[in-house]
Amino acid sequence: MKDVTIVGATGAVGAELRAILADRGIEASGLRLFASSRSAGRSLEHRGESIAVESADGERIRAAFEASDTVFLAATAETSRRLAPIAVASSCVVIDNSSAFRDDPDCPLVVCGVNDAVLDGFTGPGVIANPNCSTIIALAAIAPLRRLGRLLRMTVCTYQAISGAGAAAMSELESQARAWAADEPLPTTTLGRQGVFNVFSHDSEVDADGVNREERKLETESRRILADPDLFVSSTCVRVPVLRAHSEAIHLEFDRAVDAEAARAILANAPGLEVVDDREGRRFPEPIHAAERDEVLVGRIRRDPGVPDGRGLAFFAAGDQLRKGAALNAVQIAEAIGGRGGHR
Ligand SMILES: NC(=O)c1ccc[n+]([C@@H]2O[C@H](COP(=O)([O-])OP(=O)(O)OC[C@H]3O[C@@H](n4cnc5c(N)ncnc54)[C@H](OP(=O)(O)O)[C@@H]3O)[C@@H](O)[C@H]2O)c1
Repeated sequence: MKDVTIVGATGAVGAELRAILADRGIEASGLRLFASSRSAGRSLEHRGESIAVESADGERIRAAFEASDTVFLAATAETSRRLAPIAVASSCVVIDNSSAFRDDPDCPLVVCGVNDAVLDGFTGPGVIANPNCSTIIALAAIAPLRRLGRLLRMTVCTYQAISGAGAAAMSELESQARAWAADEPLPTTTLGRQGVFNVFSHDSEVDADGVNREERKLETESRRILADPDLFVSSTCVRVPVLRAHSEAIHLEFDRAVDAEAARAILANAPGLEVVDDREGRRFPEPIHAAERDEVLVGRIRRDPGVPDGRGLAFFAAGDQLRKGAALNAVQIAEAIGGRGGHR
């Protein structure tokens, strides 16, 4: 990864990508930033230098792809469908944060630390799909626990941060909080409802069977990433008035009795996780402690009494969905494939 283009650079994920790439030493001279025409003319600071944001259309974007080895797409799924083929034709490795390519069998779907092996056959150029944020956070914690036995079922109830709906939703939540304190009407242009002091069902479309798209992604993407088409996946996804970091109550059913202490030891030694499980002090994972952190916090680790024969395990996780749930995992994918595919 040397010459990089970000599409969606002004958004919530884009901002995080810029911050991580700055930390990784990617200089402004090697970075092109794109967004919609609304942002053209803005400039963003990167490692002390100013980079002009360009509109992601026409010859400019083609020229940027020609000069890049790695492209991060962090805009809409429609934008990804439009731009990914152009970037691949320019010999780029594309890492897509949207849902556009997650079901495409030709595009690896990767949670780094969980199924990196699927990148072994990746020669590039091509598209690698970054999974859904709730799925990444859940699987980062669930995958290592498969050492306890065969996982038969996972049930995930989410408490998702408002920033999962993008930068505008995040700033509207802050505006709602200020309006609430001032006893003024709440702005609801982006959220479409009161978000502050409220909890609401995930804002994605609801399918005919009553399952919403976020819950569907958890189901289909988890099966694909864990390479287990028989895995039962249940979930209920809701938004909570948290700015960043998703929390998830996770219940697992195994094919044999499992020991909570063995689970704790596995989680404590797994890379990318941090156990926060102080029962005496009542300190457990909280999204404010996971925010802006790379690690997914896990705690409340216990046997699930709702599963017979001691085969159930329950725990609670909190992870920054803009970091491991999006930008960090995307950068880890780029690092995992190293120089493969890009034309430099
Ligand atoms: N937020 C999360 O936690 C999260 C986690 C995982 C994956 N994702 C996915 O990542 C993507 C970005 O999400 P986000 O939360 O960062 O959204 P966001 O804050 O709303 O930002 C969207 C970005 O896309 C740009 N954009 C919109 N339409 C465009 C177009 N036609 N051409 C080029 N750029 C366009 C926007 O530019 P302007 O500023 O000019 O409008 C902005 O930079 C989405 O596909 C989302 O599903 C998000």
